Amino acid sequence: MQLRNVSPSDVDAYVRMRCDPVMMADLGGPLPREEMADKVRRDAREAAADLAWIKMIVPDPHTPDVVAGTVTIWSHDTEDGPISEMGWMILPEFQGRGLGKRAVHALLSQARDEDRWGVVHAFPATRNAASNGVCRSVGFRFLARREVEFAGRVLNSNHWAITPRTDLT
Ligand SMILES: CC(C)(COP(=O)(O)OP(=O)(O)OC[C@H]1O[C@@H](n2cnc3c(N)ncnc32)[C@H](O)[C@@H]1OP(=O)(O)O)[C@@H](O)C(=O)NCCC(=O)NCCS
Repeated sequence: MQLRNVSPSDVDAYVRMRCDPVMMADLGGPLPREEMADKVRRDAREAAADLAWIKMIVPDPHTPDVVAGTVTIWSHDTEDGPISEMGWMILPEFQGRGLGKRAVHALLSQARDEDRWGVVHAFPATRNAASNGVCRSVGFRFLARREVEFAGRVLNSNHWAITPRTDLT
């Protein structure tokens, strides 16, 4: 498995991940398809400028165009001040094979090695067993249940946090 920066040519993978009702069931529902070309271009620019880590998961380096999903760390403001947050998605045909866990672990290892991002937070939906499983299996600490806003919608989430230098399994 390899991680590479998102590029503008990843629009099909974005549509499959973000415009699909099943993939987005715990993220407030599907996003409009017509917004994806613009979204992927903006993400590619942010990733190239190293403002955020927005990575595509490539299961087999021999076929770099075949992507299994995405894993991201970015920083944003909250009412309690700026935080680093992590998110991930694995396409259905690649789920349940440990790829989500390996990709999240790989990006947190990079954060640890580069001493970047500080404490990393994640807010999976309380009912998303696989996503909470990813948190538990790489060493995130469970902090609390809370409501978070995503894409303008309020979601019931679990708040997890990890300090990669000390907590990564
Ligand atoms: C959540 C998601 C990223 C998980 O990726 P994955 O590659 O299928 O997960 P993995 O195979 O790496 O499993 C990670 C851990 O979760 C556990 N797990 C996986 N699926 C599970 C399930 N359905 N129920 C309970 N635990 C589960 C695994 O056993 C593993 O833990 P372990 O190492 O202790 O055994 C993926 O299912 C997905 O993208 N779903 C749709 C979109 C989504 O929900 N995104 C996240 C929003 S918060």
